[in-house]
Amino acid sequence: MKNMMDDVKNILFTREEIHEVVKRLAAEVSRDYADKEVLFISVLKGAFVFMADFVREVTIPCEVDFMAVSSYGAGTESSGRVKILKDLDTNIENKHVIIVEDVLDSGITLSRLIDMLNSRRPASIAICTMFDKPARRKAQVKATYSGLILPDEFVVGYGLDYAEKYRNLPDLCVLKPEVYEK
Ligand code: IMP
Ligand code: MG
Repeated sequence: MKNMMDDVKNILFTREEIHEVVKRLAAEVSRDYADKEVLFISVLKGAFVFMADFVREVTIPCEVDFMAVSSYGAGTESSGRVKILKDLDTNIENKHVIIVEDVLDSGITLSRLIDMLNSRRPASIAICTMFDKPARRKAQVKATYSGLILPDEFVVGYGLDYAEKYRNLPDLCVLKPEVYEK
C-alpha cells in the first residue's frame, strides 16, 4: 500500500506545533476584532486546512468566504500572473476583511489580490498567514498576523501541495528530492 510518508524527507513542523500557533493567531484576531464584524477570506486551495482550524479557535462571531486565484502552475515557482478562478459570494463594502493565507511567499499573489479587494471599498483589510517566507518576498506585502517563519525551502502538507498532492499530510514536511525529479 502506498504511504505519503515514504516521500517525506523530514517534518519541519508537527501538527501539535502548528496547532499551538493557530490558537495564538486566533486569540490575537479575536482580541483585535472584538468589537468589529469580521469576514475571513481564504484563498483556495492551500488555505482550506488552516482556515478550518483557525475559525474554530476564533471566539468572536465571524463570516467566511472563499476565493480561488491561480499563481502557480504544477511547478514550485510563482508565475507572477494572478487570475481569479472563483470570486467571493460576499459584498465586502464596509466590512472588516482578513485574508487567511496558507503561506506568504513572493507576495505577488497577495499584493494583486489586495489591490483588487481594495477597489471594492472594505472598511479594512488585514492578512493572517500561517506560514511566512520573508526571504522570498518580491512584492510589498507584510502579514498583519504571521504564524511560523519558514526557510527558503519548498514544503508540503497542512494544505500545501506539490502538483496538487500531499495537501492532506497533517504535518508540514519537506519532500525527498527524487519526488520532484519524477
Ligand atoms: P506568492 O506569494 O505569490 O509567491 O504565492 C503564494 C502561494 O504559492 C501560496 O498560497 C501557495 O499556494 C504557493 N506556495 C508558496 N510556497 C509554497 C511551498 O513551499 N509549498 C507549496 N505551495 C507554496
Ligand atoms: Mg499551491
